[in-house]
Amino acid sequence: MGLFTKKPIDKLILDADDGEKGLKRSLSAGNLIALGIGAIIGAGLFVRTAAAAANNAGPSVALAFVVAGIGCAFAGLCYAEFASMIPIAGSAYTYSYATMGELVAWIIGWDLVLEYAVGAATVGIAWSEYLNKLLAIFDVRIPFKWCHSPFEVCQLHSQTANFPDEFGVHGLMNIPALFIIFMLTILLIRGTKESAFVNGIIVISKVAIVIIFIVLGWSYMNPANHVPFIPPATTYTDSQGVGHNFGGIWGILGAAGVVFFAFIGFDAVSTAAQEAKTPKKDMPIGILGSLVICTVLYILFAYVLTGVASVNDFRTAGKEGSVVYAIKTYMTGYGWLANLVTVAILFGFSSVILVMLMGQSRVFYSMSRDGLVPKMFSDLHPKYSTPYKSNWIFLVLVGGFAAFIPGDIVGDMTSIGTLFAFILVCAGVWILRRTNPDIKRQFKVPFVPLVPILGIIVCGAMIAGLGWTNWARLGGWLIIGLVIYFAYSRKNSKLK
Ligand code: ALA
Repeated sequence: MGLFTKKPIDKLILDADDGEKGLKRSLSAGNLIALGIGAIIGAGLFVRTAAAAANNAGPSVALAFVVAGIGCAFAGLCYAEFASMIPIAGSAYTYSYATMGELVAWIIGWDLVLEYAVGAATVGIAWSEYLNKLLAIFDVRIPFKWCHSPFEVCQLHSQTANFPDEFGVHGLMNIPALFIIFMLTILLIRGTKESAFVNGIIVISKVAIVIIFIVLGWSYMNPANHVPFIPPATTYTDSQGVGHNFGGIWGILGAAGVVFFAFIGFDAVSTAAQEAKTPKKDMPIGILGSLVICTVLYILFAYVLTGVASVNDFRTAGKEGSVVYAIKTYMTGYGWLANLVTVAILFGFSSVILVMLMGQSRVFYSMSRDGLVPKMFSDLHPKYSTPYKSNWIFLVLVGGFAAFIPGDIVGDMTSIGTLFAFILVCAGVWILRRTNPDIKRQFKVPFVPLVPILGIIVCGAMIAGLGWTNWARLGGWLIIGLVIYFAYSRKNSKLK
């Protein structure tokens, strides 16, 4: 069997249908939409919106959300067609196995570790930062060395304002990040239904906070902050000395690349296909429903935030805490909302980590059943029917990333890994329409091949915008993956 051997679709569907032995079918369409929103709304909205307004687009960051949302919609439509046709836990990995063969499938499965495992570590690190912000309300702070990686040194004035003795201290280990990943791993092992329940409660509270901010903030908007809505094109150099295209069309496109992170996660819905009650019908609803709801909320949120506070606020005083800063400074009488937002953000980050960890274990579940990774990744818990061994292994990997690697490095790797997966899924839909035109598709992407081609172009443009350091990191990661494929997976492939 060659490197490009494809797994037949009917075999894929048969494999998924393993009744009592397999993952439990416990998720409804509502659960799936909540799963999507749980993974989508997080650091991207609450932290990156202000950064994109400050460095790239000013008030037109709202338009950047439109651009990034359209790009994700192309990929989202393609995911929806696949997920309704091949409702299997492996998501993009499985779709590639059916369309482009084993080697590409392996590459994409390995690449998804960047999106899910490294993504979970990124948000775990953001969780740790926000925990400190919450504790600061009570004048408490975790010592710098116990909430940073060994590659970080305490140097910012704001980090040392209350604790000047910490200046120059090296990080040792990010314990809060490790703690939250551990807690969520335990929840995931306990059961998919239980995890979905907790996720549902978090989703309700974080969506409520976003809506409350939009509604209350609307009347505190200063029209002067929105003029000009698209700032004239210029260059802005941030406090680290990095130059950005600010304003004009390039400013909007640059901001779209930054806020793309906020959309990552809608595709995680497709990894729960084997746990959905009626996957063929509900998968497209879960994927596209969560994407549409979040896009609308994002555009409104960005519009209100840039109306309440000015670009200068985001650049100087607000920084990564800009949402709380805007409420405290301009929305008089709503101090309680600022504290509530901090708590909601902490919970919001938790659900992102939860769904990412779940997605990761489900992709490796499928890869393990195909023999490409060891069997322990698909061993199910005798009582809870969850891939518990896989969850423990990823606790070590994700926890290691979160505890010992700085957040900015893992964040960009998450974005590039996700964009790469989106491109292959768009290509896969187009290929399968040509090779297997007669398969029953419960949901069909309109205007094929136009939509997949546009998806490939938009995601490709965003990859281009991430720069050569990230291309090199992606290349390095894929080379490690290829070594493992030729040393282990190819020999153990069940299809072979
Ligand atoms: N979309 C997720 C977030 O913004 C990854 O945190």
